[in-house]
Amino acid sequence: MSRTSVKAGKKARSLLSVSDLSAQDLAGMLDRMKSLKPAIKRRDTLSDLRGIVVGMLFEKPSTRTRTSFEVATVRLGGFPVYLASEELQTSRGEPIKDTARILGSYLDVIVGRVYSHETLTAMAAFSGVPVLNGLSDLEHPTQVISDLFTISETKGRLKGMTLAFIGDGDNVCNSLLLGASLVGMNVVAACPSGYTPNPDVLRRAEENAKRSGSTVRVVDDPKEAAVDSDVLYTDVWVSMGEEKEASRRMRAFRGFQINSEMLKLASKDAVVMHCLPAHRGLEITDDVIEGKQSVVWRQAENKLYGAAVALDFVTG
Ligand code: CP
Ligand code: NVA
Repeated sequence: MSRTSVKAGKKARSLLSVSDLSAQDLAGMLDRMKSLKPAIKRRDTLSDLRGIVVGMLFEKPSTRTRTSFEVATVRLGGFPVYLASEELQTSRGEPIKDTARILGSYLDVIVGRVYSHETLTAMAAFSGVPVLNGLSDLEHPTQVISDLFTISETKGRLKGMTLAFIGDGDNVCNSLLLGASLVGMNVVAACPSGYTPNPDVLRRAEENAKRSGSTVRVVDDPKEAAVDSDVLYTDVWVSMGEEKEASRRMRAFRGFQINSEMLKLASKDAVVMHCLPAHRGLEITDDVIEGKQSVVWRQAENKLYGAAVALDFVTG
């Protein structure tokens, strides 16, 4: 059932976690994005994915990830097939391992956005084709690949920079901890008690930091995290699938908003990032997201080049 190559003679692999990447893999991807970005913007005819059919199996809504992966597939000469989970037989109880076996025999790559990370693991185990994590409850690796590219574009470097994540220790936070520590950035997550990052992820991020000479910290005081940071990053307080916890979360995250007071604590040329969608007045204020230090629109555009490099990576 296992297929090791999508493009003849090349090595193909799944990308479910930032931990699936070595520091060298990640550096190579960020470097490749430097040439992919202008080529895609010029609408050059690229053929990296010629003859490749990419299935997009989405259990949750998406504006950026779905569109950027579909467009990246087309720009690289491949063909996208969108598969809304509610229109598949999985919605009527067909097991994911059966679905994965069938889809793997039709498709060359699967991008999956799922509630449970285990669904992706099963898809990778049973499909026989590379699977790309387009967001799970545990991680959002392709978000962080493009985010690191945005930081490097706007700050000129990554190593030695300090990223402060303020808010929920969620999928985006987990992938940021892994990615930032892999490239030698210092990373501090400020999360309320009960909403801290995944402990296994944290342990792996600490190991990365030891190797790359950076630091990883988790604190419960957002102001402490913000002080002198080069990047202030936040995400929603209620992720997809957590809607029932909304009122409890609103109480827990009070004080974790990125606003102009918080921004004053960061280094004076700090950039503000948000993976989007944003809730103005909750995790971030309108003046900050629309302000001079916000790079969120560039960050969102760069997801297109991040999707392209991720597809390139998994297809070998
Ligand atoms: N940032 C992000 O993944 O956005 P979407 O949910 O719109 O894909
Ligand atoms: N943490 C958010 C990210 C959305 C891109 C969620 O999972 O809903």
